[in-house]
Amino acid sequence: GALNKELQKLIQTAQAGLQGQVRKEFDNFEILFSRFLSETGPSVVWDKIKLLQDDLIKRYGALPTPEPAKTKELLDQLVVIKLNGGLGTGMGCTGPKSAISVRNELTFLDMTVQQIEHLNKHYDTDVPLVLMNSFNTDDDTQKILRKYGQVKVNIFTFNQSRYPRLNKETLVPISSNFGPESENGWYPPGHGDVYNSFYNSGLLELFIKAGKKYVFISNIDNLGATVDLNILNFLLTPSENSVSPEFVMEVTDKTRADVKGGTLVEVDGKLRLLEIAQVPKEHVDEFKSVSKFKIFNTNNLWMSLEAIKRNVEAKTLHMEIIVNPKTLDNGTNVIQLETAVGSAIKSFEGALGIAVPRSRFLPVKTTSDLLLMMSNLYSMRTGALEMSPRRSFPSVPLVKLGTHFSKVKEFLRRFQSIPDLLELDHLTVSGDVTFGKGVSLKGTVIIIANHGERIDIAPGAILENKIVSGNLRI
Ligand code: UTP
Repeated sequence: GALNKELQKLIQTAQAGLQGQVRKEFDNFEILFSRFLSETGPSVVWDKIKLLQDDLIKRYGALPTPEPAKTKELLDQLVVIKLNGGLGTGMGCTGPKSAISVRNELTFLDMTVQQIEHLNKHYDTDVPLVLMNSFNTDDDTQKILRKYGQVKVNIFTFNQSRYPRLNKETLVPISSNFGPESENGWYPPGHGDVYNSFYNSGLLELFIKAGKKYVFISNIDNLGATVDLNILNFLLTPSENSVSPEFVMEVTDKTRADVKGGTLVEVDGKLRLLEIAQVPKEHVDEFKSVSKFKIFNTNNLWMSLEAIKRNVEAKTLHMEIIVNPKTLDNGTNVIQLETAVGSAIKSFEGALGIAVPRSRFLPVKTTSDLLLMMSNLYSMRTGALEMSPRRSFPSVPLVKLGTHFSKVKEFLRRFQSIPDLLELDHLTVSGDVTFGKGVSLKGTVIIIANHGERIDIAPGAILENKIVSGNLRI
């Protein structure tokens, strides 16, 4: 009641042309909010959780490769959505994360466009690229997109919703209008918003009418999330006496570096995404263990467009609410209610996991990830990264760059060139450290500059199984 009154007032402050749109978004916000009030207690009963049976999780290696002659027909039925609502603030950048340069001056967005362009040219098809922007990323993204006018990719965008941040104590929206002075009052409600926003944009219906059947949704910052023909073929060519799954989640083996990712489990006969936030405290260590919950969600997801439409219209999508507390610059404590796209898996029929190789999960969350992606561990082909054949073992080195490196600008300043990492296993860098041109790092390398001192690694240096710390060189 009270919230509804506040929302009605807020709608009046939106531009006239936008009020209809805002009203739709607020309807969904109210549903989320009333669920937040009524759903208390843990969202999963720990004892009901079952590890996945083998038939619910397919091995990628077992999927056949489609006949080349059939590939165009498969691609003709595909839509690609990239989740592009996030900012690069985590790496010290102001604009959309997708505008950060990753390799050869190419950004995440450039690489994505190149990949789809290659598909379209090579297979003579017209796979549309759809970006889900947020009010935070839309303006900058539209500017960047202008340069793709001549490229053989049809690019569409839609915006995710703009929900009001709530005061943590009173649960009332903290902003009283849509004006620029209350820009802190709004947030994009997580990528779970993709279902409603895609539907409301009209694009879902447009693609269904154009004969498209499946959408591949992934994070724009996952450089391994390329269109995979074997998975697409598996979806569109069901074997005898089986129906196509409405939802496929690509999962991959957990390593010690991935303790936070959500895992797939079975609850009451249905697939469920279990996130760390839903795990009761006493089971968190168990959840993190690599031996019990062996796989995690890459957020590479394939869904039937008809099934999305059915679920949105019947309001049967049920996603766990993630309550994200924040403290604003002015000290106000707020909460924002969010959802994650993968947690809707339980609302789809015949959902499956596919266990894919690690190479389909190359996220860039930190500059440590960026160092790997920029290095000679990878080479780039038609916008996609491939592990260099010159690396003699398939695992990626574990890299931990300290806080001096956490902003992209600082990171770039500290490397005159990206070191040779082909034989690296483990790198830890802490403190004020710089790297000259042409450095090679091999085995385990640890460089620690104590407070107040600086370490400059000389150009051309080869560090192999070395600890470098102040004057101490072992
Ligand atoms: P994040 O980088 O914020 O999520 O966004 P995360 O911490 O890795 O966790 P996961 O991957 O969700 O488990 C991941 C992707 O989702 C987009 C970002 O742009 C990025 O591509 N995103 C995130 C949105 O599009 N909208 C949002 O509201 C949040």
